[in-house]
Amino acid sequence: MRQRPQIPTVEYRPGVVRLLDQTRLPLEEVVHESRDLDTLIDAIRRLVVRGAPAIGVAAAHGAVLALERRLDRGETGDLLDQGLRKDLSALRAARPTAVNLMWAVDRMSSLMDRTQAEELVQAWREEAARIQAEDVELCRRMGEHGAALLPDPSVILTHCNTGALATAGIGTALGVVRAAVDAGKRVRAYADETRPLLQGARLTAWELQRMGVEVEVLADSAAASLLRDKKIDAVLVGSDRIAANGDVANKIGTYPLAVMARRHGVPFYVVAPTSTVDLQVANGDAIAIESRDPSEIHSLGGVRTTPEGVGAYNPAFDLTPAELVDAIITETGVLRPPYASALA
Ligand code: MRU
Repeated sequence: MRQRPQIPTVEYRPGVVRLLDQTRLPLEEVVHESRDLDTLIDAIRRLVVRGAPAIGVAAAHGAVLALERRLDRGETGDLLDQGLRKDLSALRAARPTAVNLMWAVDRMSSLMDRTQAEELVQAWREEAARIQAEDVELCRRMGEHGAALLPDPSVILTHCNTGALATAGIGTALGVVRAAVDAGKRVRAYADETRPLLQGARLTAWELQRMGVEVEVLADSAAASLLRDKKIDAVLVGSDRIAANGDVANKIGTYPLAVMARRHGVPFYVVAPTSTVDLQVANGDAIAIESRDPSEIHSLGGVRTTPEGVGAYNPAFDLTPAELVDAIITETGVLRPPYASALA
């Protein structure tokens, strides 16, 4: 693959955070601009920027925006300090499952002992840039480790979007595909459409096509038949949070894929940086699962698909038990069960 998105997924310029608006892809490539924290938090909630590492990077730049605006208003001392603490909590709460968000906010927060506001602005700008640059490198290393696991040629199945749109670099699961292709391996891909918001159909298909990787999109409910009927070499997914025991939270629909992969003897790999590992939570049951607006289920492309008056169940993520995961590919290498010791 030779192409990156024309517009960076996340970009900070003094006073503004620029995002490639993922709600508009693949039909339009449009930049969304946030000049204040509320606009950025709204963008994170609406999935203008999404994918755990990309959310973390956007949040780090969001902290800088918040500070810049408060300084514009002349805030200093305790007023500034309390205001910033409020801003960081609002950022942390923007989406509850992706731990990279909390991880990035905590990194910014740990620098708040700077006494001079100018020092803090400088320190936060540098830290946000560092978080972004580190993610590029983490993706590169995960890609290398993961690519070594794929046979040549190989056919993979993936879910949601885990590529350059979901990170600051080449991606997690999709980064493995990219690294394999760059290493000269022949890779074909199947992408689950990923109901209800179609990250697979809209975003993964768009990225793979730009990479020159042959991709077929399937309805999520077709995955069992695909795993039974075709030779799939690996299922590759990302994660929003990995518990200390190796349980994995990822886009809704990941858990059934893991069950079906095991049933059909297909390796199920989770690709995620260590910033996605949350050793504070013992197992998946302790991970907060985001519940999203029922309207996402009630309509498709703006057209109502359910009768008025019925309810909708719309968890954004599910939990895959560690026992169904054949390997967790991080920037440090390929981890195998038992995960509790490997992750610790
Ligand atoms: O709701 P989203 O689109 O933010 O969900 C994203 C995912 O579930 C990804 O698989 C996950 O963040 C890992 S991607 C690097």
